[in-house]
Amino acid sequence: MSAGVRNQIEKLRDKIRYHERMYYVEDAPEISDREFDLLMEELLRLEAEHPELVTSDSPTQRVGGEPVGEFRAVAHTHPMLSLDNTYSPEELREFDARVCRLIPEIELAYTAELKIDGVGVSLRYEEGVFVQGITRGDGRSGDDVTANLRTVRSLPLRFDSQAVPGEIELRGEVYLSHSVFQHMNAEREAAGELPFANPRNAAAGSLRQLDSRITARRPLNIFIYGLAAPEATPFAGHDAAMAAIEEAGFPVIEERRQLPTIEAVIDHCLAVQEKRHHFDYDADGMVVKVDAYELQEKLGATAKHPRWAIAYKFPAEQATTTVKEIEFNVGRTGAVTPVAIFDPPVELGGATVRRATLHNEDEVRRKDIREGDTVLIERGGDVIPKVVMVITDKRTGDEKPFEMPNTCPVCGAALHRPEGEVARRCTNAACPAQQRERITHFARRAAMDIEHLGPKVVEQLIEAELVSDVADLYGLTVEKLLPLERFAEKSAANLVAAIEASKERGLYRFLFALGIRHVGERAADILAEKFASLDALIEVAQNHPDQLQEIPEIGPVMAESLRLFFSEPKNQALIEKLATLGVVTERVRTVPAVSQVLSGKAFVLTGALSGYTREEAAKAIEARGGRVTSSVSAKTDYVVVGADPGSKADQARSRGIPCLDEKAFEELLAGRLPEDE
Ligand code: IVH
Repeated sequence: MSAGVRNQIEKLRDKIRYHERMYYVEDAPEISDREFDLLMEELLRLEAEHPELVTSDSPTQRVGGEPVGEFRAVAHTHPMLSLDNTYSPEELREFDARVCRLIPEIELAYTAELKIDGVGVSLRYEEGVFVQGITRGDGRSGDDVTANLRTVRSLPLRFDSQAVPGEIELRGEVYLSHSVFQHMNAEREAAGELPFANPRNAAAGSLRQLDSRITARRPLNIFIYGLAAPEATPFAGHDAAMAAIEEAGFPVIEERRQLPTIEAVIDHCLAVQEKRHHFDYDADGMVVKVDAYELQEKLGATAKHPRWAIAYKFPAEQATTTVKEIEFNVGRTGAVTPVAIFDPPVELGGATVRRATLHNEDEVRRKDIREGDTVLIERGGDVIPKVVMVITDKRTGDEKPFEMPNTCPVCGAALHRPEGEVARRCTNAACPAQQRERITHFARRAAMDIEHLGPKVVEQLIEAELVSDVADLYGLTVEKLLPLERFAEKSAANLVAAIEASKERGLYRFLFALGIRHVGERAADILAEKFASLDALIEVAQNHPDQLQEIPEIGPVMAESLRLFFSEPKNQALIEKLATLGVVTERVRTVPAVSQVLSGKAFVLTGALSGYTREEAAKAIEARGGRVTSSVSAKTDYVVVGADPGSKADQARSRGIPCLDEKAFEELLAGRLPEDE
């Protein structure tokens, strides 16, 4: 084997590792995604030509291998303890007093840093190469999730450092950023699946996937918070160790500060608490650690907790308000969901909360939530607000006990609760609410991408009896639209043109747009890769549904859902009609049609946009060469500010970073820079 190729491959790997670090750890990419992909493609090509040179630490080896049957249990070399909690400055002072009692003669320093609400893991490196990752488990032993951890792009598969020994066991917290969490839940809901309750559950679920290819689709992240055996390293204390680990290319916990006294620690904890919502991940408090490893060893641990560290938990962000009304929302699949409307709306975690889903009737009954009740509501990070409990002391007797309707609140048809399900569903497929949701879904950017066709316009079209299903969209003309309110010659022509353009989207988007239960964007993509045309898929779904399950990531539930959908005569007729109208039902290869006007620009999104979900806005930015980051930093170029924005908008303004409203954002997408540029 020529040393030349080996050298070339190693150089390319180093280059890719460098750019991975700049992108995933430093949040400061130096090359475009396209350039990065080209480097990766070149490496893949060279490795395919020289398979004997593939190594496990190559950047190409993050995803691979077959699903495992079950995880292997592995004992931890050092137990993974948990932390004792405190909830007030006073309790932190008591912690300090305990530490000082135990080591009275010594002057000490603390390090305080964020506490991430994720999933704890242990990571073993040998000669600087990542060899094994284990979940915390019961603290004594955990599951070997090495393959899944390899998919975490911010985790170096190898490192090269003068300061950090190559043989080392790190401890870290795996988490999902709020933006990824929202994207993931939006996808699940689009596929008619139950959303995850919070980012931690979603991260834990992803980390415990037996098929690492699924984990790789859910971009997990990690922060390193410590070492398993600090005494075996040259570091004097936590702060110095974390600084060296960071220097070696690892993402370490943020807001870390070494401080000389407990009062300084308290000030830092309270200052970070003030901005807890600035982070794009769930941080539930601070961890205060005696910095020096020698003193940590002296202090030791109880059976459960170290004596040298303690958690300071941020107070839960809660508020009370009253439930003015319980509304019922009818979804695309007919599921009727109770929603609490609050009066007055309350400020919670930097946003105004006006309503909260109550999920289903069982949940409302369990909590006994009634119209007129005073309730305690809570919001964790950026995540969905929830009703924690009713404050029964405040009941006057005038509250209205909850009643789940038997008929659809929109069309009056009977509701049916299938066995084993929590939702009651409207049985009328022609229900205007279901139609509206189905058509709105069909037009979504991630589906048929019909510009100008948002929920309000859909509602208007249904009310005017111009459309009752998605096929009717293709029969709309300027003349039919003109009599409608808010439509003029130009807007009507724009909508008709956008609908016409959607015919060419191709199989993958069309499949997603059909709104088949359990079939999200990802599944539609996989099916379109497998079947070149809708006819081919229908043939298999109807006649050999078992074969569908042989496709990776398509399980029995999805296979059954596809069979049911394509066996339904009404659906068959609709598809037939759409195909006759010229909607392409074959696979089309897409080339990026938009110019890369946002190349290298970093965006932060905050608040709700009317024409885009967060995921759609991110896609629009990425399609034009830009990228979306979670928090405002010196590297942010623009902050897109929607309705009810979070604190990110204020941060941007105070840093002088341009804030764009939806109109300015659309201008920018179209390649027109804001005037002050
Ligand atoms: S230090 C001996 N630092 O919280 C335990 N833990 O409740 C030392 N965690 O198991 C833990 N952020 O999974 C530490 N900055 C941080 C952390 C952190 C999150 C997790 C970790 C730990 C759990 C304890």
